[in-house]
Amino acid sequence: MKITLSVIKADVGSIGGHIKPSQKLLERVNEYVTQEGSGLLIDHYIGHTGDDVAILCTHQEGVGARKVHKLAWETFKKGTEVAKEEGLYGAGQDLLKDSFSGNVKGMGPGVAEMEFEERENEPFLVFCADKTDPGAYNLPLYLAFADPMHCSGLMLSPKMARGFKFTIMDVEYTRGDRVVELNAPEDIYDIAALLRDCERFVVESIHSRENGEQAAAVSTTRLHNIAGKYTGKDDPAMLVRVQGLFPATGEVLSPFAIGHYVAGFMRGSHVGPLMPVKKNSVISFFDGPPVVSCLAFCVHEGRFTEPADGFDQPYWDWVRNNVSRKATELRQQGFFGSAMLPYSELEYGGIVVKMEKINKKFKVRKKK
Ligand code: 13P
Ligand code: 13P
Ligand code: MG
Ligand code: MG
Repeated sequence: MKITLSVIKADVGSIGGHIKPSQKLLERVNEYVTQEGSGLLIDHYIGHTGDDVAILCTHQEGVGARKVHKLAWETFKKGTEVAKEEGLYGAGQDLLKDSFSGNVKGMGPGVAEMEFEERENEPFLVFCADKTDPGAYNLPLYLAFADPMHCSGLMLSPKMARGFKFTIMDVEYTRGDRVVELNAPEDIYDIAALLRDCERFVVESIHSRENGEQAAAVSTTRLHNIAGKYTGKDDPAMLVRVQGLFPATGEVLSPFAIGHYVAGFMRGSHVGPLMPVKKNSVISFFDGPPVVSCLAFCVHEGRFTEPADGFDQPYWDWVRNNVSRKATELRQQGFFGSAMLPYSELEYGGIVVKMEKINKKFKVRKKK
């Protein structure tokens, strides 16, 4: 059976700052999707990571389907109504446009989608990150799909011997989708050269070179490119099919043990280590640290099993402690040097205005 798997997420309001949505908001979102999605969606699951609500669903409308995107948009508007009623912080934060125009891409919410013929058994992972941007997935995807130090299947499984195709997007280009396709293993130095620049180049999708099947899809939205100013962090979602022709679940999770430094954290303007967290975790220290959750599902004829929590296992407690240490180390230098993002990424208008003012006071000394 051919199905489309979609995850669409947005921040439409949260409790106590940018911490988490309210129970009432989540209930309203679930009710609305259940009611209005009947006949359109095969199944759905609602969750949150930090202050972002994610709608995971299956249907047969294909990728970028107007009906499905409209349902998500209307759902987030319903969520915003609850946020306003309850006085939640940042009600409707990620809904950047006034009216729906066919596709939520470019309107604020993050979207990752794949259409595929279901395998006999179809395990997949859904990742949701908060307080960071889509480049946060560059390193883990590179390591899981191109490096046998993390993905032993690249050596051990004949089905993976031909490697994977990376589709990489230039997210600074805003007049359309500017993408390049590169193949691992032969292009890995080129892939690395692009992916090191997480703010500009972002993995959009990955395909198996064995049979062309799609393995991964990432939401590539950069909100400040849509709004032209800071309106919240992008907080990307990602879908990864696992096992068989694809890396095993544990191979995809392995790179998240690094707790690599990503852009985000407080006011979307700092650098912090990405902490793998359990389902429905909240945000705290310095509006962070940047977090990522992972739910593993199987889908059969479009219906989901209950989720298994990818990061709810004692090993990840140890990782979380290390990540806390890494966060503290960098936080000790406050705003200096590499603890804060470069000027080009400083998303709050404040510092831009400030710099313009100071700039006028500069004088060039006359040579004697
Ligand atoms: P099982 O034998 O438990 O199915 O594990 C196989 C495997 O390759 C896990 O990475
Ligand atoms: P969110 O994008 O998750 O709303 O975070 C915004 C922020 O600036 C936190 O400090
Ligand atoms: Mg928020
Ligand atoms: Mg968020």
